[in-house]
Amino acid sequence: MTECIKIRKPDDWHLHVRDGAMLKASLPFTARSFGRAIIMPNLVPPVRVVKDAEAYRERLLAALPAGSTFKPLMTCYLTDDTDPDEVEAGFRHGVFTAVKLYPANATTNSAAGVSDYNKIRPVLARMEKIGMPLLMHGEEVDPEVDVFDREEVFIERRLIPWTREFPGLKLVLEHLSSKVAVDYVRSAAPQVGATITPYHLALNRTDWLGFGLRPYMYCMPVIKTERDRRALVEAATSGDACFFLGTDSAPHPVAKKLNVIGAAGLFNSPVAIESYAKIFADAGALDKLEGFASLNGPRHYGLPPNDETITLEASPWTAPEEVRVDGPEERALVYRGGESIEWRISS
Ligand code: NCD
Ligand code: ZN
Repeated sequence: MTECIKIRKPDDWHLHVRDGAMLKASLPFTARSFGRAIIMPNLVPPVRVVKDAEAYRERLLAALPAGSTFKPLMTCYLTDDTDPDEVEAGFRHGVFTAVKLYPANATTNSAAGVSDYNKIRPVLARMEKIGMPLLMHGEEVDPEVDVFDREEVFIERRLIPWTREFPGLKLVLEHLSSKVAVDYVRSAAPQVGATITPYHLALNRTDWLGFGLRPYMYCMPVIKTERDRRALVEAATSGDACFFLGTDSAPHPVAKKLNVIGAAGLFNSPVAIESYAKIFADAGALDKLEGFASLNGPRHYGLPPNDETITLEASPWTAPEEVRVDGPEERALVYRGGESIEWRISS
C-alpha cells in the first residue's frame, strides 16, 4: 500500500512572492499547499507603511485562484527611520503580523534595511510592549566577518543582547543555516523561534560548489557544511516547538540568477511541502512533520492552527523545470526542477 500521511494544513512562515507578473506566477503554488504565509516585504520599494501593506495584500488576494482560502500575513520592512506608531497602528488594525529586519545589504532588496542598530531600539521596545514578533534575517554584514560566519556573529552581536534588553520581545530567526544557530535557538526558546527551509535541510556546500558552480543553489544565508545540514535535519525532525516551517521560496527571473552578480534566492514553492515530507520520511520522523509544518509556527505567533487538512502520499512525480512568467521576466527556474519528487499532495 502507498504510504500516506494526513496532517493539518501547513503554513509557510517565510515566503517571497514578489509583485506583478511574478506574483501571479508564484502565489498559486503556495495557495495550493499552505493555509497562510508570512509575506516578506522586500519589494522595490519595500513595504514600510500600513497603506502599502494593505495595497500589497489586495494584489495578493487578486492573484489567488478562485475559491482559495489562503490568507497572506503581511510584514513591515524595518529601516533606521521606522516609526513605532506606524508599526503599532498596523499591528492593531490586523494589517502587520510582524516586523522584518534585514541588515542593510545582507540579501536581495535589503539596501534600505537597518544600518544603525541604535536607531531601531524604540521600535523594538514598542513591539515588546504590544506583543508583536520581530523576524530577523540574522546575518552580520561586516566585511571583516566571513560570509560563512555571518549568522553566528549576528547571534553574538545582536540577538543575545536583544533577548536581554527586551526579554518580552518575541523573536524569529529566519532560515536557520548552521549548527551554532540550532544550538542557540534551543537555548533561547521559547522567546526565540526559528524557521528552516527545505533547501538548507537538503543541500550542503559541496552540492553547491563541489561539482561545478550551481547558481540556483545560491541563497542567503549561504548553504553550509554537511555537519550543519545534519544539525538542521535533527532540529526540524526533533519535534521541538521552537523550530517550524518557512520555505524562503524566492523566485527570480532567470537572467538575474545567471548575471555577473547573481541574485540570492531559491524558488521552491512548487515542491516545498513535498520536499519537507521526503526529509522527514528519510529521517524516520514522518510523525513529527505535522508539528513542524502546521503546529509549532502558529503557537509561536499566538495563532490557532488551520482546521483544514492535507494528505501527502509517497507517489513520485516530476517537478517542472521552470515556471513561465508573463512579460519581460519570462521564467523562473524551480528548485529540484526536472527531478523526481517522491511525495505528492493527494488531497
Ligand atoms: C531572498 C530573496 O530573494 O528575496 N533571498 C535569499 O537568498 N534567501 C531574501 C532572503 O530571505 O534573504
Ligand atoms: Zn527570505
